[in-house]
Amino acid sequence: MEKEKTLYTAAVITVSDKGAAGEREDLSGPAIAEILTANNFIVQSTIIVPDEEREIRHALRDAVDMKVNLILTTGGTGFSHRDITPEVTMSVIDREAEGIAEAIRWFSLQITPRAMLSRGVSGIRDDSLIVNLPGSPKAVRESLEYIIDSLKHGIDILLGTATECARKD
Ligand code: MTE
Repeated sequence: MEKEKTLYTAAVITVSDKGAAGEREDLSGPAIAEILTANNFIVQSTIIVPDEEREIRHALRDAVDMKVNLILTTGGTGFSHRDITPEVTMSVIDREAEGIAEAIRWFSLQITPRAMLSRGVSGIRDDSLIVNLPGSPKAVRESLEYIIDSLKHGIDILLGTATECARKD
């Protein structure tokens, strides 16, 4: 019989003025949920918020209070004056996990030089790992599929269910 795989929990936050106003269909949130579900995550909440500090912070804090293992944001990481997802995330996390943001940019830069324009950050608050992904569904898929396996290992270490760094290679 196949060994039962650990189930993880997640929340998805789409940060988009147009999405929140119903002026644009959110394709990135569903793309994230699809990848998470395929990787043993239960998506406990999905929400669309405008690029407003208060609403982004509330959404992040609510997800931390729900004690989900992983909180993924999409959007608001670029250079527009309204792109503030990284700053709000920095104000919510206790410890930065710079390697995750570095890995996203490093991998994405091999696909498009525009990846340098995402200012996304990652970090930990309480028992939740928070990762900013860029806004487009394409960028979401490229970024998340590359990091998802290592995120699970990071969560195992955060929760104390893994103590050793099992190497994949
Ligand atoms: N990363 C990947 N993997 N693929 C992409 O197509 N687009 C970039 C970048 N990161 C992209 C990517 C672009 S064009 C921008 S402007 C930034 O993400 C920021 O996007 P955001 O403001 O929607 O978060």
